[in-house]
Amino acid sequence: MAKVKTAYVCGDCGAEFAKWQGQCNTCSQWNTLSRVSIGPIKEANFGFTGVTAQIQKLDQVDASKALRIDTGFAEFNRVLGGGLVPGSVVLIGGDPGAGKSTLLLQVCTELARSRKVLYVSGEESLQQLAMRATRLNLPLDGLDVAAETRAQVIAGHIETHKPEVVVLDSVQVLQMEGVDATPGSVTQVRETAGFFTRLAKLTNTVIILVGHINKEGGLAGPKVLEHMIDCFLMLDAPAGSRYRTLRALKNRFGAVNELGVFAMTDAGMKEVSNPSAIFLQRGDVDSPGSVATVTWEGTRPLLVELQALVDDVNGGYPKRVAVGLDQQRLAMHLAVLHRHCGITLSDQDVYANVVGGVRITETGADLALLLAVLSSFRDRVLPRDLIVFGEIGLTGELRPVANGQERLREAAKHGFKQAIVPFANRPRKPLPNMAVHGVQNLSGALEVLAGI
Ligand code: TYD
Ligand code: MG
Repeated sequence: MAKVKTAYVCGDCGAEFAKWQGQCNTCSQWNTLSRVSIGPIKEANFGFTGVTAQIQKLDQVDASKALRIDTGFAEFNRVLGGGLVPGSVVLIGGDPGAGKSTLLLQVCTELARSRKVLYVSGEESLQQLAMRATRLNLPLDGLDVAAETRAQVIAGHIETHKPEVVVLDSVQVLQMEGVDATPGSVTQVRETAGFFTRLAKLTNTVIILVGHINKEGGLAGPKVLEHMIDCFLMLDAPAGSRYRTLRALKNRFGAVNELGVFAMTDAGMKEVSNPSAIFLQRGDVDSPGSVATVTWEGTRPLLVELQALVDDVNGGYPKRVAVGLDQQRLAMHLAVLHRHCGITLSDQDVYANVVGGVRITETGADLALLLAVLSSFRDRVLPRDLIVFGEIGLTGELRPVANGQERLREAAKHGFKQAIVPFANRPRKPLPNMAVHGVQNLSGALEVLAGI
């Protein structure tokens, strides 16, 4: 029998080391390494003995097998890049209570109308599952369910029942026989995910893994699994909001950062098919420090409000805090503001936030962020019908962003009457009902602002 080898894997970034060390060399995090055993698990133990991969010519491979499976939920399909790809492994992460099980139960019962679908619940009992499905008025007759946590037994079910789609809820409770580690540990999660990935490829089954994962890594960080799986979707529940955003962080078959939006209602997860303005709910009172921008999420625009608060430093270093935005970009913009516009905030704390718990990952919000900061600093309310977008370069220039025309059109549709955008993003034909100021640099934007 082959010797059991051990390695040390970082729970945050997935890097592997031969020896234990306090700090991970790759991501510089402390105390994230845990011991994993590698091998000797024989394929024969896997429970799927009848299937082996064959060598073929590429042109003999039936590409039609890669046809997408329509999940019945347009928002879910959108994030997946057009539906589920047979033989793929999808990891859905999110905090406990985000609505992963609810969404997947709805998707599975819908899929089970025309396909064989197996929902393996390792956390909830089958009674709880049935109660939830009944309460949500989902069709109960089509879906196969099993309460099981043993990986090999589940593989056996997949081999005999041959479902097209399998949900494993959740990967943290699964246990593989022959792997000496507790469920939820890095070793166990890694081994079971690897096992089911191989199974998905060999049997051309879609396997959806559910993981209680937060961005900080949590139990077994997403990075440990990320290289194995095909799609990593994150279901986020902004605090205090009934909206849920599903975002593709990795997708071998579609665009990353594609965003799907759902609302958690008492009848389960409902799709929000036109979410562009759902996060833009401004009160009646206008205050300094607030600017609306339109970001681009995947393939569509999203209107959001940025808020900033600038206040005198109360001893110590000036603070720069950004929630939902890149903190380093904020610091960089403040330097640009100082160097190119002569405005210094070195004796001010600066806080910035995206309202509604949205996270902005693109640079199109740069200008809006800086104008929100200035608006708070100067205690000046900006017009409510003003929309701002554009990337700020280190030389103070305003760089164009992708899909400028669509962003402006979407803003106009929601009643915005004036815009400050990069010069290259100005519309070729004037827009009805909207005055668009195309500016070359940050000082140009400030001049426009002074005049409105
Ligand atoms: P759940 O799908 O169990 O979350 P996860 O699997 O991600 O841990 O969702 C549980 C939460 O959703 C819980 O806080 C109650 C809420 N919920 C509703 O608001 N309406 C519903 O119809 C259902 C089923 C759950
Ligand atoms: Mg759950």
